[in-house]
Amino acid sequence: MNPLREETQARFTEPCIVVIFGATGDLTSRKLIPALYNILKAGQLPSQFACVGFARRTKTDGEFRKEMHEAVQKFSRTKPIDEHLWKHFEDHLYYHISEFHDDEGYVKLKQKLEELDHRLGTKGNRIYYFATPSSYFPLIAEKLKKSNLIYPESQGPWSRVIIEKPFGHDLHSAENLQQELMKHLGENQIFRIDHWLGKETVQNLLVFRFANSIFEALWNNRYIDHIQITVAEDLGIGTRGKFWEETGLIRDIVQNHVMQLVSLVGMEPPVSLDANAIRDEKVKVLQAIRPLEPKDVVLAQYTSGLVNGEDVIGYLQEKDVPSSSHVETYAALRLHIDNWRWSGVPFYLRSGKRLPKRSTEIAITFKDPPGVLFQQGHRKNDPNVLVMQIQPDEGISLKINCKVPGPASPIQPVKMDFKYGSYFGIAPPEAYERLICDAILGDSTLFARQDEVLLSWKLLTPILKGKPSTYPAGSWGPIEAEKLLEQDGRHWRLI
Ligand SMILES: NC(=O)c1ccc[n+]([C@@H]2O[C@H](COP(=O)([O-])OP(=O)(O)OC[C@H]3O[C@@H](n4cnc5c(N)ncnc54)[C@H](OP(=O)(O)O)[C@@H]3O)[C@@H](O)[C@H]2O)c1
Repeated sequence: MNPLREETQARFTEPCIVVIFGATGDLTSRKLIPALYNILKAGQLPSQFACVGFARRTKTDGEFRKEMHEAVQKFSRTKPIDEHLWKHFEDHLYYHISEFHDDEGYVKLKQKLEELDHRLGTKGNRIYYFATPSSYFPLIAEKLKKSNLIYPESQGPWSRVIIEKPFGHDLHSAENLQQELMKHLGENQIFRIDHWLGKETVQNLLVFRFANSIFEALWNNRYIDHIQITVAEDLGIGTRGKFWEETGLIRDIVQNHVMQLVSLVGMEPPVSLDANAIRDEKVKVLQAIRPLEPKDVVLAQYTSGLVNGEDVIGYLQEKDVPSSSHVETYAALRLHIDNWRWSGVPFYLRSGKRLPKRSTEIAITFKDPPGVLFQQGHRKNDPNVLVMQIQPDEGISLKINCKVPGPASPIQPVKMDFKYGSYFGIAPPEAYERLICDAILGDSTLFARQDEVLLSWKLLTPILKGKPSTYPAGSWGPIEAEKLLEQDGRHWRLI
C-alpha cells in the first residue's frame, strides 16, 4: 500500500469494529470519537462498522452516545456537526462496562462483538485501541488473547492493537513492555501511534525530499553545514504536574516526536514506499547516532518570567510539583550521525516549555558560499536556510541572497515562502483521522516500529537523570544552550 497516496484518492476502510479501552477518558472524547466521526464524514468508513467503548463506569449506550455527541460538538475538526450523519454514527456506537482485569468482562465483550458481526457484517475484523495508562497494555493484551479476541495473523479476519505513547519510560521498561506484548501479539498487529507522524507536514518531509531532485542532491555533508530542530511551547505544564513529574521533556517530546523528525530528515531514500522499507531506513539513522556525551546535552527547568506579556510562575511553583524536583522542562542536544551522508554535520535539537512562542520547525542551514564574490566589506553573505515549519502555519521557506534594486549592489537575504493553508485552501485532516484509517487498512508506515522505539530509548536513557539548570520563562532557554552552539561557532536561529 502506498502511504503517500494522493489524499484526493478516496480510501475505503474495511468492515470492522473499533473497541476503545478507556472510553471515558480524555483521549477518547477529545481525539478518537471526533476522528471517527470525521472519517465517516469523509466517506471512508463502510456501513459495516461499529465502535464499542470499554470502561468501568456504569453508563448506558444512550448516556455514552450523548456524552460523545457533546465531545464531537466541542472537539470536531469540522463544525457544525452534521446531525443526520451523527445519528448514523451513533447507531453504531456502544458502551461496554468492565474493569480491565475482569475475565467475565471479556467473555461478554466477545459475545457483544460477535452479535454485532452478525447484525452489521463487520466480518470479525477488530481494532483494539488502548487509550489507557500504558501500565494496562500487557494486561489487556493478555485478556484479549485468552478470550480469543486476538487471532493469529493469517488470511482470515484480522485483529490489531493501537497503543499510545509512552512506550516505556526508559530502555529497560520499553524492552519489558515489548516482551509482554509479544507474548500475545505479532509485531505486525501492534500499531504504536505517534500522532506527529499523522501530521501533513511531517509526511510531506518524504515527498519534499524524494519527489524533488533539486533538494535531495544537496541533502548531505558536502552542502549542509548543520541542522536545527526546534519544538517550542509557550505554555507551561498547566494542571499536569503529576504527569510531568513522572515524565519530563525528554520522555514526553524528544524520545518520540523529535527523534522521529531526526530519522525522517536523516534517512536514505527507501527502496519503496512499503512500510518496512521506510522504517528500515529510519532505523539505520538511529543506529548511526553517536552515544551522547555530557558535553552534548543541556537540561533545564523554567523559573518565573514573562510570557506573551504575562507574568508566569516557575516550574517548582506549579501545582503537584515538589520544590525539590529535578525534572527538566527544556532540553538541547547535539547529535552526531556517523554515516557517509551526515559525517561532520551536527544536528542540534532543542525543545522546551514556557519558551517565547509555540513553534516546531526543522531548519537546514547550508554551507557559506565561497567568499570570493559579493562580499560586503567584512560581512559575509548569509547562508541559505531551508525551513520546514511543522506548526503552526505549516509551510516551507527558503532564504536566499538577492541584489537590492538600484545602481549599488547591496545584497540582502530574502525569503521564498510557501504556506499550506493559503496555497491549498483546505485545513489538513487531524492526525488521528489519518492514523486510525491507516490502522484499519493495515498500513503501518506512519507508526513506530519496536526497533525505532528501543534505539531511541538506548540513546536517551543515559541522560534521563541529568540535573537541570534553569531558564526564565519567556526566554529561549538557559545560557548553557547558547554555549553549546557557540563552541561550534554557530547560533540558534531566531524564531
Ligand atoms: N489525552 C491525550 O491527549 C493524550 C495524548 C497522547 C497520549 N495519551 C495517552 O493515551 C492514554 C490515555 O490517556 P487519557 O488522557 O485518555 O487518560 P485518562 O483520561 O486517564 O483515561 C483513562 C481511561 O482508562 C479507564 N480506566 C483506568 N483504569 C481502568 C480499569 N482498571 N478498568 C477499566 N477502565 C479503566 C478510565 O476509566 P475511569 O474514567 O473509570 O477512570 C478512563 O476511561 C494514556 O496512555 C496517555 O498517555 C493521551
